[in-house]
Amino acid sequence: MSIAIPASISISALNTQSTSTAGTTPTAGPIIEIQSLNLYYSEFHALKNVGMRIDPKSITAFIGPSGCGKSTLLRTLNRMNDMTKGVRINGKVAISGTNIYDTDVNVELLRKNVGMVFQQPNPFPKSIYDNIAYGPRIHGITRKSELDDIVEKSLRSAALWDEVKDYMKKSAYGLSGGQQQRLCIARALAVNPTILLMDEPTSALDPISTLKIEELIQELKDQYTIVIVTHNMQQAARVSGQTAFFLNGEVVEYAETVNLFSNPADQRTEDYITGRFG
Ligand SMILES: Nc1ncnc2c1ncn2[C@@H]1O[C@H](COP(=O)(O)OP(=O)(O)OP(=O)(O)O)[C@@H](O)[C@H]1O
Ligand SMILES: [Mg+2]
Repeated sequence: MSIAIPASISISALNTQSTSTAGTTPTAGPIIEIQSLNLYYSEFHALKNVGMRIDPKSITAFIGPSGCGKSTLLRTLNRMNDMTKGVRINGKVAISGTNIYDTDVNVELLRKNVGMVFQQPNPFPKSIYDNIAYGPRIHGITRKSELDDIVEKSLRSAALWDEVKDYMKKSAYGLSGGQQQRLCIARALAVNPTILLMDEPTSALDPISTLKIEELIQELKDQYTIVIVTHNMQQAARVSGQTAFFLNGEVVEYAETVNLFSNPADQRTEDYITGRFG
C-alpha cells in the first residue's frame, strides 16, 4: 500500500510574501533542506524518503502518532542520532547549503548552530548563571563582563531574566518546571544558534508555563528558525507557520499550518487531526 508523496514542497515558494518583513532582505532560500532521507535503526526503516524545505525564521511543527519518526527526524538535523548504535542514514540534510553528513563537518560546531530543547527540562546541577555560561565557556569565552552580557541577554531572550536576576548563584534545580524549561532555552540561545529544535518542549509543563513557552517561541521566530515536535495539535496550530504530518516514517503532508488544519489534502491527515486515530 504505497501512496505517492511529493518528495518536497517548496515552502519558500509558498510564502515569500508572508515571511518577508519590511526592512529585511528577502530570504535567499531554505535554511534546512532535507532530500530523500532514509534512516534505519538496524533493520528497522524509521524514516522513509523524507523531503522537506524549511525557510529561515519560520516555525515548523512536526505532528503525528507516537512512533511515526518525529523525534528521529528532529535528531537528524543536528546529528544527535550519531550517538545511537545501529543507525544508518542515507540521503541529504543541508543546513545553509552544507550537507551536514559530509565527512568533514565539525559536529560540535553544527550542534552549536543547531540547538536542542528536550521534553523534560534538563538543567545542569549548577547555578542559574553557570547553566547559561557553560556553553560560551566551552567555546572559549572567559572574560567575566562578556559572560555576564551573554547570560543576561540569553535570559532576557528566554523571558526569564526578571524572575531570576537576583538569584543567579542559586541552583537551577530550585526553579519551577516552566522556569527550568525557559532556562534550557536560554542555555541553547547562549551559544548563538541559528536553528532551535524543540522536542515536545511543553509536554511536562502546566498550562500557564506552556502558554509562556508558546509566547516565547513566537518571539524567538524573529531571530531563529524553530522546529517543534508536538502532540498537541492546538499548539501546532497556535505557534507554527508550517506543519508536517508523519505516519510510519513518511511525511504524509507538509503545508502551511492553516491549510493543513482547515483543508488537509490527504485523507490520513484529516483522520488524524479529527481524532480518528493516534
Ligand atoms: N534508538 C532506537 N533504536 C531502535 N528503534 C528506535 C530507536 N529510537 C526510536 N526507534 C523507533 O523508531 C520509530 C520512530 O521513533 P521516534 O522516537 O522518532 O517516534 P516519535 O514520532 O518521536 O514518537 P513519540 O511521539 O512517541 O515521541 C519508533 O518505531 C521507535 O520505536
Ligand atoms: Mg518523540
